[in-house]
Amino acid sequence: MTRTSLKKKFFSCCVLIFLLFAIICVWKEKKKGNFYELLKLQNKEFQLLQGLEKLAMISSSQPVSSSSTHHPQRSNQALGGPKAKLESTFQVWDKDSSSKNLIPRLQTIRKNYLSMNKYKVTYKGPGPGVKFSAEALLCHLRDHVNISMIETTDFPFNTSDWEGYLSQDDIRTKAGPWGRCAVVSSAGSLKSSRLGREIDDHDAVLRFNGAPTVKFQQDVGTKTTIRLVNSQWYRNPDYNFFNNFKSYRKLHPDQPFYILKPQMPWELWDIIQEISSEQIQPNPPSSGMLGIIIMMSLCDQVDIYEFLPSKRKTDVCYYYQKYFDSACTMGAYHPLLFEKNMVKHLNLGTDEDIYLLGKATLPGFRTIRCGA
Ligand SMILES: *[C@@H]1O[C@H](CO)[C@@H](O)[C@H](O)[C@H]1NC(C)=O
Ligand SMILES: *[C@@H]1O[C@H](CO)[C@@H](O)[C@H](O)[C@H]1NC(C)=O
Repeated sequence: MTRTSLKKKFFSCCVLIFLLFAIICVWKEKKKGNFYELLKLQNKEFQLLQGLEKLAMISSSQPVSSSSTHHPQRSNQALGGPKAKLESTFQVWDKDSSSKNLIPRLQTIRKNYLSMNKYKVTYKGPGPGVKFSAEALLCHLRDHVNISMIETTDFPFNTSDWEGYLSQDDIRTKAGPWGRCAVVSSAGSLKSSRLGREIDDHDAVLRFNGAPTVKFQQDVGTKTTIRLVNSQWYRNPDYNFFNNFKSYRKLHPDQPFYILKPQMPWELWDIIQEISSEQIQPNPPSSGMLGIIIMMSLCDQVDIYEFLPSKRKTDVCYYYQKYFDSACTMGAYHPLLFEKNMVKHLNLGTDEDIYLLGKATLPGFRTIRCGA
């Protein structure tokens, strides 16, 4: 079976949410008021889209969220020093992990992204380093990160050539509300985890991109309710990014397929920057982190597998590929280190669950009580 038809099979049975990192930077521009000028400069929409496609290829060339990999000598520092060791026999992710603990190569990459500032991000919010209790942070996330999908009235999709391509129904009528949900990273450390049955025991399961279940059932389960797909999937230089989207929609008109509004990753980015005590990479959060937040808006409880690395941590990036790079756990393009600090801070589960299962548990937004 070819790669393409395999993917069609994977994607045909569940809700799809598409991440348009490609147009994020354009939206960012719009915020600053020069988006329309950009449009005027580009006479033909086609040209603009082609430019965006190139950006998509650059910005999405990074691995999806995952957890694994540490330089063995470094992992002690990154995963909580001797103090953590005294408190618990399970040495897990330290919620105050600092970029100083990264291997030199990753420190350099982070600094390069900071000085490049590809998306011209300017942070004007409070902090950095504002301390929130876990409860207050949950409310902050709930109230400041808008999880909504592109609608037919949203520019530039509000033209006649987009008619019929965007799902009309609110995602909440197609997805959820659910009780217990699982977010399954694609981390190499899922290999030999035997978590399949536990994962399938959830009401809904979110997976990323083309992460397969066939041949990996024992470790990752079989159930897929939502797939979060980034533009990498369309990374084929022979075809236009948006034309591919349209072709897919023509083939699967009945499949609930949504495009996440590109503002959302930046609203989340602002909060991660606000609570982090140092500058985070000015690039969108990982799709792993976005998937977690999306599920928090659809479920009462979200169990996240191998986002915070377990004892199985490895340099292998994906459970279904042999590719390895320490950036997959610690972050290079994405501010992954800081995302993990946040998830550890919010975790309701035990260090034992992180260590043995790679499992962190976050509450759904509907279950939290926030002050007036
Ligand atoms: C979320 O979206 C709604 C509707 O588009 C808007 O009214 C509201 O201001 C947004 N909230 C934030 C925090 O951006
Ligand atoms: C699409 O949205 C833009 C921006 O809101 C608006 O200026 C334009 O008139 C809309 N186009 C159509 C065909 O409704």
